[in-house]
Amino acid sequence: MIAPYQDASQSIEVRTQDLLGRMTLEEKIGQMIQIDGNEDGEIWIREKHIGSILHVTGDEAERLQRVAAETRLGIPLLCGIDAVHGHAFHDGATVFPSQLGMASSWNEMLLEKVAEVTAKEVILTGLHWTFSPVLCLARDIRWGRVDETFGEDPYLSGRLGAAMVRGYQGRDLVEPYSILACAKHFVAYGETQGGRDSAESDVTERKLRSVFLPPFKAAIDAGCATVMAAYHANDGVPCSANSWLLREVLKEEWSFPGFIVTDWMNIQHMYQLQKVASSIKEASAIAVVAGNDMMMSTKEFFDCGVQCVQEGRIDEQLINEACTRILRLKFKLGLFDQKRFIDREQAKLYIGCDSHKKLAYQAALESIVLLKNDHEVLPLTRQIRKIAVIGPGADDPEQIGDWSFGSRSNPELPTISYHEYNVEPIITVLKGLQNLVGSEIEVVYEKGCDMIDPEAHNIPGAVKVAQDSDIVIAVVGDTVVLNGETRDRMNLDLTGSQLELLKAVKATGKPLVVVLINGKPLTIPWVKVNADAILEAWNPGMEGGHAIADILFGEFNPCGKLTISFPRHVGQQPVYYNQMPGWHGSSYVEMNAEPLFSFGFGLSYTKFAYSNLTLLKSELNQGETLSFSVAITNIGGRRGAEICQVYVNDVYTSVTTPVKELKGYSRVELDPGERKWVNFELPVSELALVNRQCRRVVEPGEFELMVGCSSRDEDLLKVKFQVS
Ligand code: NOJ
Repeated sequence: MIAPYQDASQSIEVRTQDLLGRMTLEEKIGQMIQIDGNEDGEIWIREKHIGSILHVTGDEAERLQRVAAETRLGIPLLCGIDAVHGHAFHDGATVFPSQLGMASSWNEMLLEKVAEVTAKEVILTGLHWTFSPVLCLARDIRWGRVDETFGEDPYLSGRLGAAMVRGYQGRDLVEPYSILACAKHFVAYGETQGGRDSAESDVTERKLRSVFLPPFKAAIDAGCATVMAAYHANDGVPCSANSWLLREVLKEEWSFPGFIVTDWMNIQHMYQLQKVASSIKEASAIAVVAGNDMMMSTKEFFDCGVQCVQEGRIDEQLINEACTRILRLKFKLGLFDQKRFIDREQAKLYIGCDSHKKLAYQAALESIVLLKNDHEVLPLTRQIRKIAVIGPGADDPEQIGDWSFGSRSNPELPTISYHEYNVEPIITVLKGLQNLVGSEIEVVYEKGCDMIDPEAHNIPGAVKVAQDSDIVIAVVGDTVVLNGETRDRMNLDLTGSQLELLKAVKATGKPLVVVLINGKPLTIPWVKVNADAILEAWNPGMEGGHAIADILFGEFNPCGKLTISFPRHVGQQPVYYNQMPGWHGSSYVEMNAEPLFSFGFGLSYTKFAYSNLTLLKSELNQGETLSFSVAITNIGGRRGAEICQVYVNDVYTSVTTPVKELKGYSRVELDPGERKWVNFELPVSELALVNRQCRRVVEPGEFELMVGCSSRDEDLLKVKFQVS
């Protein structure tokens, strides 16, 4: 006789409640614990009944799942991993560009597909949950984790995040390759003071609701199954202690049915770092009461949780509620019934397979942003005889960036070891160029300098190679040790002697094409003035070198647009485009506030002209929709794709509002000479601001609509309309 919870024909609710009714307090507390892969998982499963584990790879996940199946109730483990740009901790998996890179595509379908492929590679290795997408906004880019975000805009982050959620989870988690997504880090983690990772932020409820909560709301509306509470405290309250945020907003107001996991050791941090609790036990009670359902990397929660319930500090009802949320998702994923063990046959067929690599290549192509192209130095022609490839980024597998291979192996070490991984499939720029031109064009490589150490260089060698060639491709930027958790920067200049290398090579008089491989915008005013062309490639993933080579030679016409602004100088921070009005003088003494490259900016090998911005109606009522169109013409000589952007400014308002806010975009492909009308429908409700009472309202009055190829005023057509 099987119990109702073991009976797949019963509803999820019946199964969950039946199982919960059979669990002891210890089993319920254990269900709320997620331990990390360095612990002895078997002991924790057998003795402390843990519900989840993170960062186990290879056969270990399956072994532990079998141990869980042997326990009294046989509750399966939920195995999580940071598969944030592909299943990139898994040797042999497909590694996509960083999230910041892929954001430059503004292509939801592409991101959905990337997430779908990632889910497939994850599930075939016996894991079920990725801690992705990141919905933090990159506001102060000294912050170490900029590469993990979609950039600086809340609207775009919400749309791209929702697309990834759909890709990971499929149709309501029922497809064979579905995994759980996790919207993180809840919330305003990118707004910490001074760009210091996990330092305090001071964001008011009004600002949270205006800027930081909307991307999370979009992900929850797309069905995102889990949410991760951020590390930091906002206005004195650690996110994992914030019952207003976790219970009132997320679980009640938004009716979030999934579960909340803390970030790594959030409970210990409340006691040891933030000091809002005088013991881990007190912090455990705070975390449960605030609404966290699963505690990441907090073994102590087992004893503390049990004691807190026994002493009446935590109502057991709250424990039941948390377990219900976790178990429901385990049932929904089918873990009790199909187990989802490693599928070795399918894993061999699909992990890192050619069609997945092809998608990584496509994602890299669309992630690349052409920032400068004077005198059409690009695309290169096949008439070139010899190419000099120089720079520390030109042949470095670390181009795949953070959260990949060995990048997390030991954050204490100054350099990162990739030696345990097969880096062969990572296509660097050098390899990509060599593969593309074969013996037709000579490619000569000289690294020129180290990425970090200014003393380690061979600038004369690089100059010699440059002198001998027709053109120089210089690959510079940053590397994994300059990005990530605990890797905040106080200066965004090129490190080591990269700038000296560029200057020396420039002095040869050869055309200079700079390819940037980097986790975040860098302050590169010299490069902007002196390079003939600049390609921003971000961390382009394993196929990056093929994509860069194909763009350099015009096999693909670049179409990416920046989703983050580049400052000229670190002291201009923040330079995001959606600034609040009111700064006296609008300039620093030494420098104006203009970014070096603006949000939304990106060139193509062709040119597009915008005209005829037309509103169907210029006076609207609440509840109506603004319909408008714009004509875009390809006035250049090549087929290309353009990302047309829509911004709005609410002119007079009861509270200050941004000078412009992205409200829509559309991607259009055009042949030379072709013109297309692009139509938009913008519901008036989307023009809402958050008023002093923290309510979303559309205030009647004048609005300005701006449509064009970037957020810069000179790139936008403008027209006014009224809402009454
Ligand atoms: C800490 C990071 O902040 C979070 O993004 C990640 O998902 C967890 N650790 C698990 O690795």
